[in-house]
Amino acid sequence: MTRQQQTLGFRSDTEPKFHLYHGDCVAGMRRLEAESIDVVVTSPPYNLGITYGVHDDNQNRIEYLKWTVEWASEVKRLLKPGGSFFLNVGAVPANPMMPHEIILILRDLFTLQNTFHWIKSISIRTRKGETISAGHFKPLNSKRFLTDCHEFIFHLTKNGSTPLDRLAIGVPYADKSNIRRWSHTKGVDKRCRGNTWFIPYETIRSSKDERPHPATFPVELPLNCVRLHGNVSSAVVMDPFLGIGHSALAAREAGVSEFIGFELDRTYIDQAALSLSLPLTEIKTF
Ligand SMILES: C[S@@+](CC[C@H](N)C(=O)[O-])C[C@H]1O[C@@H](n2cnc3c(N)ncnc32)[C@H](O)[C@@H]1O
Repeated sequence: MTRQQQTLGFRSDTEPKFHLYHGDCVAGMRRLEAESIDVVVTSPPYNLGITYGVHDDNQNRIEYLKWTVEWASEVKRLLKPGGSFFLNVGAVPANPMMPHEIILILRDLFTLQNTFHWIKSISIRTRKGETISAGHFKPLNSKRFLTDCHEFIFHLTKNGSTPLDRLAIGVPYADKSNIRRWSHTKGVDKRCRGNTWFIPYETIRSSKDERPHPATFPVELPLNCVRLHGNVSSAVVMDPFLGIGHSALAAREAGVSEFIGFELDRTYIDQAALSLSLPLTEIKTF
Protein backbone atom coordinates (compact mmCIF):
# COMPACT_ATOMS: atom_id res chain seq x y z
CA MET A 1 0.00 0.00 0.00
CA THR A 2 1.38 3.45 -0.92
CA ARG A 3 1.66 6.26 1.66
CA GLN A 4 -1.07 8.11 -0.20
CA GLN A 5 -3.46 5.15 0.10
CA GLN A 6 -2.62 4.80 3.81
CA THR A 7 -3.38 8.43 4.59
CA LEU A 8 -6.56 8.70 2.54
CA GLY A 9 -8.45 6.72 5.17
CA PHE A 10 -12.07 5.67 4.86
CA ARG A 11 -13.26 5.15 1.32
CA SER A 12 -16.95 5.46 0.54
CA ASP A 13 -18.89 2.61 -1.09
CA THR A 14 -20.95 4.93 -3.29
CA GLU A 15 -19.53 5.81 -6.69
CA PRO A 16 -19.92 9.46 -7.78
CA LYS A 17 -21.40 10.26 -11.18
CA PHE A 18 -18.41 11.47 -13.20
CA HIS A 19 -18.75 14.04 -16.01
CA LEU A 20 -15.43 14.47 -17.81
CA TYR A 21 -15.24 17.13 -20.52
CA HIS A 22 -12.42 17.61 -23.02
CA GLY A 23 -12.28 21.29 -23.95
CA ASP A 24 -11.93 24.84 -22.68
CA CYS A 25 -13.32 25.18 -19.16
CA VAL A 26 -14.77 28.66 -19.71
CA ALA A 27 -16.87 27.47 -22.66
CA GLY A 28 -17.76 24.32 -20.72
CA MET A 29 -18.75 26.07 -17.48
CA ARG A 30 -21.01 28.44 -19.45
CA ARG A 31 -23.16 25.41 -20.32
CA LEU A 32 -23.80 24.50 -16.68
CA GLU A 33 -26.65 25.68 -14.48
CA ALA A 34 -26.04 28.59 -12.07
CA GLU A 35 -25.64 27.76 -8.35
CA SER A 36 -25.34 24.03 -9.02
CA ILE A 37 -21.88 23.29 -7.52
CA ASP A 38 -20.98 22.83 -3.84
CA VAL A 39 -17.19 22.66 -4.05
CA VAL A 40 -14.70 23.80 -6.67
CA VAL A 41 -11.17 22.59 -6.07
CA THR A 42 -8.57 23.38 -8.67
CA SER A 43 -5.06 24.30 -9.59
CA PRO A 44 -5.00 26.47 -12.72
CA PRO A 45 -1.90 26.98 -14.84
CA TYR A 46 0.20 29.55 -12.91
CA ASN A 47 1.70 31.27 -15.98
CA LEU A 48 5.17 30.44 -14.74
CA GLY A 49 6.48 28.89 -17.94
CA ILE A 50 5.67 25.23 -17.25
CA THR A 51 5.80 23.00 -20.32
CA TYR A 52 2.30 21.59 -20.76
CA GLY A 53 1.17 19.52 -23.74
CA VAL A 54 -1.31 22.03 -25.21
CA HIS A 55 -1.62 25.03 -22.87
CA ASP A 56 0.89 27.89 -23.33
CA ASP A 57 2.06 28.85 -19.82
CA ASN A 58 3.88 32.02 -20.94
CA GLN A 59 1.06 34.51 -21.47
CA ASN A 60 1.28 38.25 -21.09
CA ARG A 61 0.78 38.97 -17.36
CA ILE A 62 -2.20 41.31 -17.85
CA GLU A 63 -3.88 38.89 -20.27
CA TYR A 64 -3.32 36.06 -17.82
CA LEU A 65 -4.93 38.01 -14.95
CA LYS A 66 -7.87 38.99 -17.20
CA TRP A 67 -8.34 35.33 -18.09
CA THR A 68 -8.19 34.44 -14.39
CA VAL A 69 -11.08 36.80 -13.73
CA GLU A 70 -12.95 35.32 -16.71
CA TRP A 71 -12.83 31.70 -15.55
CA ALA A 72 -13.24 32.60 -11.86
CA SER A 73 -16.40 34.58 -12.72
CA GLU A 74 -17.86 31.38 -14.16
CA VAL A 75 -16.87 29.55 -10.97
CA LYS A 76 -18.71 32.21 -8.98
CA ARG A 77 -21.83 31.87 -11.15
CA LEU A 78 -21.86 28.09 -10.67
CA LEU A 79 -21.12 28.02 -6.95
CA LYS A 80 -24.06 27.61 -4.57
CA PRO A 81 -24.43 30.49 -2.02
CA GLY A 82 -22.80 28.35 0.70
CA GLY A 83 -20.24 26.80 -1.63
CA SER A 84 -16.45 26.64 -1.30
CA PHE A 85 -13.84 27.46 -3.94
CA PHE A 86 -10.40 26.07 -3.08
CA LEU A 87 -7.77 27.63 -5.32
CA ASN A 88 -4.26 26.16 -5.26
CA VAL A 89 -1.48 28.43 -6.57
CA GLY A 90 2.27 28.47 -6.24
CA ALA A 91 5.07 30.79 -7.28
CA VAL A 92 8.63 30.69 -8.56
CA PRO A 93 11.46 32.94 -7.30
CA ALA A 94 11.40 34.82 -10.61
CA ASN A 95 7.71 35.59 -10.14
CA PRO A 96 7.01 35.65 -6.38
CA MET A 97 4.00 37.98 -6.63
CA MET A 98 1.82 35.83 -8.87
CA PRO A 99 -0.27 34.10 -6.11
CA HIS A 100 -0.79 37.50 -4.45
CA GLU A 101 -1.75 39.17 -7.70
CA ILE A 102 -4.28 36.41 -8.35
CA ILE A 103 -5.89 36.68 -4.93
CA LEU A 104 -6.00 40.48 -5.10
CA ILE A 105 -7.67 40.46 -8.49
CA LEU A 106 -10.30 37.99 -7.21
CA ARG A 107 -11.19 40.30 -4.30
CA ASP A 108 -14.15 41.75 -6.15
CA LEU A 109 -15.62 38.30 -6.83
CA PHE A 110 -15.07 36.39 -3.59
CA THR A 111 -14.30 36.70 0.11
CA LEU A 112 -11.05 35.09 1.23
CA GLN A 113 -12.33 32.91 4.07
CA ASN A 114 -9.16 30.88 4.82
CA THR A 115 -5.61 30.61 3.54
CA PHE A 116 -3.93 27.22 3.75
CA HIS A 117 -0.27 26.48 3.18
CA TRP A 118 0.48 23.25 1.36
CA ILE A 119 3.81 22.22 2.89
CA LYS A 120 5.66 19.81 0.60
CA SER A 121 8.73 19.36 2.75
CA ILE A 122 9.67 20.41 6.27
CA SER A 123 12.53 20.13 8.75
CA ILE A 124 11.71 20.30 12.46
CA ARG A 125 13.65 20.04 15.69
CA THR A 126 12.27 17.32 17.93
CA ARG A 127 11.99 17.63 21.74
CA LYS A 128 15.17 15.53 21.92
CA GLY A 129 16.97 18.24 19.94
CA GLU A 130 17.33 16.17 16.79
CA THR A 131 16.54 17.79 13.39
CA ILE A 132 14.37 15.57 11.21
CA SER A 133 13.15 16.23 7.68
CA ALA A 134 10.15 14.85 5.83
CA GLY A 135 8.67 15.25 2.35
CA HIS A 136 10.15 16.02 -1.04
CA PHE A 137 11.47 19.16 -2.71
CA LYS A 138 13.11 20.23 -5.94
CA PRO A 139 16.53 21.58 -4.88
CA LEU A 140 17.17 25.15 -6.00
CA ASN A 141 20.74 26.13 -6.72
CA SER A 142 20.83 29.84 -5.89
CA LYS A 143 22.80 32.42 -3.94
CA ARG A 144 19.62 34.47 -3.38
CA PHE A 145 16.66 32.17 -3.03
CA LEU A 146 15.74 29.30 -0.76
CA THR A 147 14.29 26.05 -2.04
CA ASP A 148 10.55 26.45 -2.49
CA CYS A 149 8.67 23.99 -0.27
CA HIS A 150 5.13 25.36 -0.15
CA GLU A 151 2.14 26.56 -2.17
CA PHE A 152 -1.06 28.39 -1.25
CA ILE A 153 -4.58 27.06 -1.14
CA PHE A 154 -6.98 30.01 -0.99
CA HIS A 155 -10.43 29.17 0.35
CA LEU A 156 -12.81 31.57 -1.35
CA THR A 157 -16.52 31.87 -0.60
CA LYS A 158 -19.37 34.16 -1.59
CA ASN A 159 -19.63 35.99 1.75
CA GLY A 160 -17.01 34.55 4.09
CA SER A 161 -19.47 32.64 6.26
CA THR A 162 -19.54 29.14 4.77
CA PRO A 163 -19.60 26.66 7.67
CA LEU A 164 -16.89 23.98 7.56
CA ASP A 165 -16.56 20.48 8.99
CA ARG A 166 -13.23 21.21 10.71
CA LEU A 167 -12.96 17.86 12.48
CA ALA A 168 -13.51 15.92 9.22
CA ILE A 169 -9.79 16.51 8.64
CA GLY A 170 -8.94 16.84 12.34
CA VAL A 171 -5.88 15.33 14.02
CA PRO A 172 -5.44 13.61 17.41
CA TYR A 173 -4.26 15.72 20.39
CA ALA A 174 -0.55 15.35 21.10
CA ASP A 175 -1.26 16.03 24.77
CA LYS A 176 -4.20 13.79 25.64
CA SER A 177 -4.89 15.67 28.88
CA ASN A 178 -6.36 18.43 26.71
CA ILE A 179 -9.28 16.16 25.80
CA ARG A 180 -10.62 16.32 29.38
CA ARG A 181 -9.43 19.84 30.11
CA TRP A 182 -11.35 21.52 27.29
CA SER A 183 -15.09 21.07 27.23
CA HIS A 184 -15.37 21.83 23.50
CA THR A 185 -13.63 18.49 22.76
CA LYS A 186 -16.72 16.64 24.10
CA GLY A 187 -14.31 13.84 25.05
CA VAL A 188 -13.21 13.22 21.46
CA ASP A 189 -9.52 12.93 20.63
CA LYS A 190 -9.61 15.22 17.59
CA ARG A 191 -8.62 18.84 17.15
CA CYS A 192 -8.63 21.27 14.26
CA ARG A 193 -5.63 20.58 12.02
CA GLY A 194 -4.94 24.26 11.42
CA ASN A 195 -4.05 25.92 8.17
CA THR A 196 -0.66 24.31 7.47
CA TRP A 197 -1.10 21.05 5.60
CA PHE A 198 1.93 18.80 5.25
CA ILE A 199 1.25 16.79 2.09
CA PRO A 200 4.32 15.27 0.49
CA TYR A 201 4.41 13.99 -3.06
CA GLU A 202 4.71 10.26 -3.47
CA THR A 203 8.25 9.18 -4.25
CA ILE A 204 8.61 8.22 -7.90
CA ARG A 205 11.48 6.62 -9.77
CA SER A 206 10.83 8.10 -13.22
CA SER A 207 8.73 11.23 -13.73
CA LYS A 208 8.33 10.38 -17.44
CA ASP A 209 6.64 7.04 -16.71
CA GLU A 210 4.98 7.65 -13.35
CA ARG A 211 3.88 11.31 -13.49
CA PRO A 212 2.67 11.99 -17.02
CA HIS A 213 1.90 15.66 -16.20
CA PRO A 214 4.32 18.42 -15.14
CA ALA A 215 2.25 20.09 -12.37
CA THR A 216 -0.05 17.87 -10.35
CA PHE A 217 -1.22 18.13 -6.75
CA PRO A 218 -1.36 15.00 -4.56
CA VAL A 219 -4.84 13.42 -4.17
CA GLU A 220 -4.74 14.21 -0.46
CA LEU A 221 -4.90 17.95 -1.17
CA PRO A 222 -8.33 18.05 -2.90
CA LEU A 223 -9.51 15.31 -0.52
CA ASN A 224 -8.81 17.57 2.48
CA CYS A 225 -10.70 20.40 0.76
CA VAL A 226 -13.78 18.32 -0.06
CA ARG A 227 -13.95 16.79 3.42
CA LEU A 228 -13.43 20.16 5.07
CA HIS A 229 -16.35 21.67 3.16
CA GLY A 230 -18.51 18.86 4.59
CA ASN A 231 -21.88 17.35 3.54
CA VAL A 232 -19.79 15.12 1.35
CA SER A 233 -22.32 12.50 0.25
CA SER A 234 -24.59 15.08 -1.39
CA ALA A 235 -21.81 17.29 -2.74
CA VAL A 236 -21.34 18.22 -6.39
CA VAL A 237 -17.63 18.90 -6.92
CA MET A 238 -15.95 20.52 -9.94
CA ASP A 239 -12.38 20.98 -11.18
CA PRO A 240 -12.13 23.26 -14.25
CA PHE A 241 -8.43 22.33 -14.72
CA LEU A 242 -8.54 18.58 -14.25
CA GLY A 243 -5.06 17.62 -15.45
CA ILE A 244 -4.68 13.87 -14.96
CA GLY A 245 -7.60 13.72 -12.55
CA HIS A 246 -6.30 13.85 -8.99
CA SER A 247 -9.31 15.88 -7.84
CA ALA A 248 -11.59 13.26 -9.43
CA LEU A 249 -9.80 10.50 -7.52
CA ALA A 250 -10.25 12.55 -4.33
CA ALA A 251 -13.97 12.97 -5.11
CA ARG A 252 -14.31 9.19 -5.39
CA GLU A 253 -12.33 8.64 -2.20
CA ALA A 254 -14.53 11.12 -0.32
CA GLY A 255 -17.74 9.61 -1.72
CA VAL A 256 -19.27 12.74 -3.27
CA SER A 257 -22.45 12.63 -5.32
CA GLU A 258 -21.20 14.09 -8.63
CA PHE A 259 -17.90 15.23 -10.08
CA ILE A 260 -17.40 17.50 -13.09
CA GLY A 261 -13.98 18.01 -14.66
CA PHE A 262 -12.72 20.00 -17.67
CA GLU A 263 -9.35 19.59 -19.36
CA LEU A 264 -7.99 21.11 -22.56
CA ASP A 265 -5.42 18.40 -23.25
CA ARG A 266 -6.69 15.07 -24.57
CA THR A 267 -3.64 13.15 -23.32
CA TYR A 268 -4.17 14.37 -19.75
CA ILE A 269 -7.91 13.73 -19.64
CA ASP A 270 -7.42 10.25 -21.15
CA GLN A 271 -5.00 9.58 -18.29
CA ALA A 272 -7.63 10.85 -15.81
CA ALA A 273 -10.22 8.43 -17.22
CA LEU A 274 -7.65 5.63 -17.09
CA SER A 275 -6.87 6.34 -13.41
CA LEU A 276 -10.60 6.30 -12.65
CA SER A 277 -11.03 3.04 -14.66
CA LEU A 278 -13.61 4.80 -16.83
CA PRO A 279 -13.89 4.00 -20.55
CA LEU A 280 -12.54 6.78 -22.79
CA THR A 281 -16.04 6.98 -24.34
CA GLU A 282 -17.13 8.61 -21.03
CA ILE A 283 -15.12 11.72 -22.00
CA LYS A 284 -17.36 14.23 -23.75
CA THR A 285 -15.93 16.73 -26.23
CA PHE A 286 -17.68 20.00 -26.97
C1 LIG B 1 -1.79 22.81 -12.87
S1 LIG B 1 -2.50 21.77 -14.03
C2 LIG B 1 -3.72 20.86 -13.09
C3 LIG B 1 -3.20 19.52 -12.61
C4 LIG B 1 -4.20 18.74 -11.77
N1 LIG B 1 -4.49 19.43 -10.52
C5 LIG B 1 -3.67 17.35 -11.46
O1 LIG B 1 -3.32 17.07 -10.29
O2 LIG B 1 -3.56 16.55 -12.40
C6 LIG B 1 -3.49 22.82 -15.01
C7 LIG B 1 -4.19 22.12 -16.17
O3 LIG B 1 -5.07 23.03 -16.81
C8 LIG B 1 -5.17 22.66 -18.18
N2 LIG B 1 -5.77 23.80 -18.91
C9 LIG B 1 -5.16 24.94 -19.31
N3 LIG B 1 -6.04 25.79 -19.87
C10 LIG B 1 -7.24 25.19 -19.80
C11 LIG B 1 -8.55 25.57 -20.20
N4 LIG B 1 -8.80 26.74 -20.80
N5 LIG B 1 -9.58 24.71 -19.96
C12 LIG B 1 -9.35 23.51 -19.36
N6 LIG B 1 -8.13 23.08 -18.98
C13 LIG B 1 -7.08 23.91 -19.19
C14 LIG B 1 -3.74 22.30 -18.56
O4 LIG B 1 -3.70 21.47 -19.70
C15 LIG B 1 -3.27 21.59 -17.27
O5 LIG B 1 -3.42 20.20 -17.37
